[in-house]
Amino acid sequence: MQLTKEEENMLDGEEGYAVRKSMEILVALGNIYGAERLIKVGSVQVAGVSYHNLGDAGLQFLNELARDGKVKVLTTLNPAGMDLKDWKKLGIDKEFARKQKLVIDAFDKMGIIISCTCTPYLIGNLPRFGEHIAWSESSAVTFANSVIGARTNREGGPSALAAAFVGKTPNYGLHLDEERVPDIHIHVTAELRMLSDWGAFGYCVGENAENKIPYITGIDHADLDELKSFCASVVTYGSKPLFFMQKMTPGYMDHQPPKEMITIETRDIENAYESINDDFSIVDLVCIGCPHCSIKEVAKIAGMLKGKTISPHTQFWVACSRLVKGIADDRGYTETIEGAGGKFACDTCMAVAPLRGRFRSVVTTSAKGCYYSRHNNMMTKMGSLQECIEAAVKGKWS
Ligand code: F3S
Repeated sequence: MQLTKEEENMLDGEEGYAVRKSMEILVALGNIYGAERLIKVGSVQVAGVSYHNLGDAGLQFLNELARDGKVKVLTTLNPAGMDLKDWKKLGIDKEFARKQKLVIDAFDKMGIIISCTCTPYLIGNLPRFGEHIAWSESSAVTFANSVIGARTNREGGPSALAAAFVGKTPNYGLHLDEERVPDIHIHVTAELRMLSDWGAFGYCVGENAENKIPYITGIDHADLDELKSFCASVVTYGSKPLFFMQKMTPGYMDHQPPKEMITIETRDIENAYESINDDFSIVDLVCIGCPHCSIKEVAKIAGMLKGKTISPHTQFWVACSRLVKGIADDRGYTETIEGAGGKFACDTCMAVAPLRGRFRSVVTTSAKGCYYSRHNNMMTKMGSLQECIEAAVKGKWS
């Protein structure tokens, strides 16, 4: 990889330890993937924030970088392992909270915005069309590439941090025009009626497309919440964080539907629900907000919960950014949701909070949420928002 004089100086340690380490990571990545040079990034989004996933080794790595590392571009954080303010309310233990706070302190010292959300585009980290960025949360990477038309690979935590300290990333993969070409045509005949159908649809596309870039036809309407749910699901069950959706997402006009074609019918969506849903009736946890809820979703939840009471045997969590929660506070949605017995899980999520062993079953609108909850040894069901709220009120899925 060709380095400029300034980049060589950074690699030689002229700007300190964190920048030198970062350059080593970026150069190694660039050489592995055949990048010719580094390119500037407009923003960074760092995953790997939960102490649950980092452990002490991860915390030590961050503390070493935080000694002299300062980010050069707008950098935001993925969810942490707990609500940073109200962790006790979510049943997080003291020692975990202490360690999680040390992780956050390290990121804070680096100049990173402690946003702790997987929907950075909803809180001000919003790239423009065509902008190069280095993001690591897979659902946000897919949203940025596909819905916004920005350009990012799916960074790991360390490579995203390295890009933040240097302000650059190697120019390979989804930064290049020739790597952003669809290679499978997905035609949809199924009607997608509710939010969870988009998760099921993402499951079908991901399973069929695997490592190919889908060009999707047959959809004539999709709102932001539906696309965000689809983005989370398609990259969880498949692997490429990019799709084109005819008439819906930028760049589709630059391509023709590829020859290889798969049709997704109503039966495929039903099969996806069957694969995702386990057989149980007692519901321990209902969690909405994977990816983190928009204010529109929080408003809907509050509207549906008005005058209802959550079962004393079930926990009901709304996961969102602290910024969205602030609007919910002002609008009275928080009062309604908490008045019904629900809890806000700001800064965190059902996948990265230490939930293993605490709940046997979870109900959610999210296909990605189900995927990770199974890894946490929970039985899962995915349903509409209405079904989730009914399950929370009755304490049962019926
Ligand atoms: Fe976000 Fe956690 Fe889901 S990071 S996409 S809420 S698994």
